[in-house]
Amino acid sequence: MVRAIEWRESPTPHIRLIDQTALPAVETYLEITTVDALVDAVLSLAVRGAPALGATGALGVVVAMNQAAAEGWSDDELAAQILRIRDARPTAVNLAVGADRASAHVSEGVEAVLAAALELVAEDEAANRELSRLGADWILARTGKEKVRVVTHCNTGALATTAWGTAYGIIHELHERGALDYVYADETRPLLQGSRLTSWELTRDEIPHAIEVDGAASSTILRGLVDVAIIGADRIAANGDTANKIGSVALALACQRAGIPFVVAAPWTTVDLDTADGNDIVIEERPAEEVHSFGGAVVAPEGVTTFNPAFDVTPGDLVSAVVTEKGIAEPAASSSPEPLKDLISR
Ligand code: MRU
Repeated sequence: MVRAIEWRESPTPHIRLIDQTALPAVETYLEITTVDALVDAVLSLAVRGAPALGATGALGVVVAMNQAAAEGWSDDELAAQILRIRDARPTAVNLAVGADRASAHVSEGVEAVLAAALELVAEDEAANRELSRLGADWILARTGKEKVRVVTHCNTGALATTAWGTAYGIIHELHERGALDYVYADETRPLLQGSRLTSWELTRDEIPHAIEVDGAASSTILRGLVDVAIIGADRIAANGDTANKIGSVALALACQRAGIPFVVAAPWTTVDLDTADGNDIVIEERPAEEVHSFGGAVVAPEGVTTFNPAFDVTPGDLVSAVVTEKGIAEPAASSSPEPLKDLISR
């Protein structure tokens, strides 16, 4: 299994990232030893996906502390640089969660911070594997099928996490159980995380699939070609409203109409109980160039105004299940205003 993000001690301590902007054409790695390089990697999406960003935030604090020691930064400068990492992208809560969790140990020294960051990394893999088992059980019970056909959006596999994956983890689990028929992977505009990354992972895992343009997804659902939609999340509010890659909400609406489950899979670190509902989720807007050009070719009139939100929010009442390692909430069927909060108090 590919490791999107790893801590390496040699030749000098660094974060090793697979450069996701180069996939699937080239498998190349970045060795990150400075805050500038790390923030660039986050902004360019060389590292991306909420759980992988959580690890980036946590390990980034170690990078910042090492750079502070080498360059003689003041405590204030170190704090400001950690904040640059923490706030580099606003929607995926994991980035801030990871940075905050590691930062809490700064006064104990860099070894303590590294230990906290590596603990977070290990917990993420364990969470993904557990939620994948729970999610596969839930989907097979709900659909009553021996084999399911799945549609998914964006990339939620090992590349988007520390290992294994979330929505992709469930797909992988179903495949290993012999309970997966076929996957439709949305290409995911504008940066093609689905066709470049998910299809790369599905191909490596020998999982039968087709990529489809985002505009096809709701029709695929309404034509009865899939039994369930499974997506990841960047932030899940207490009421189940879910921020995920732009285009996700179209799948949810079509699933509701088709009467099939719409499943969100995420580790508990993506659940943000301090956010009451989706109105409070900040949606990242990305540069116009991502929409103006495609594969280096200009595809829009010069200077045209562009709206490029990276995420959308699916209302909780369209979410059949939020699958986490702590258990499964069912916001669409729940009479509780805070189904995610109820899950933790169970
Ligand atoms: O902009 P990205 O590629 O970071 O967006 C990623 C997604 O929207 C994923 O679906 C989400 O982070 C879950 S990853 C397990």
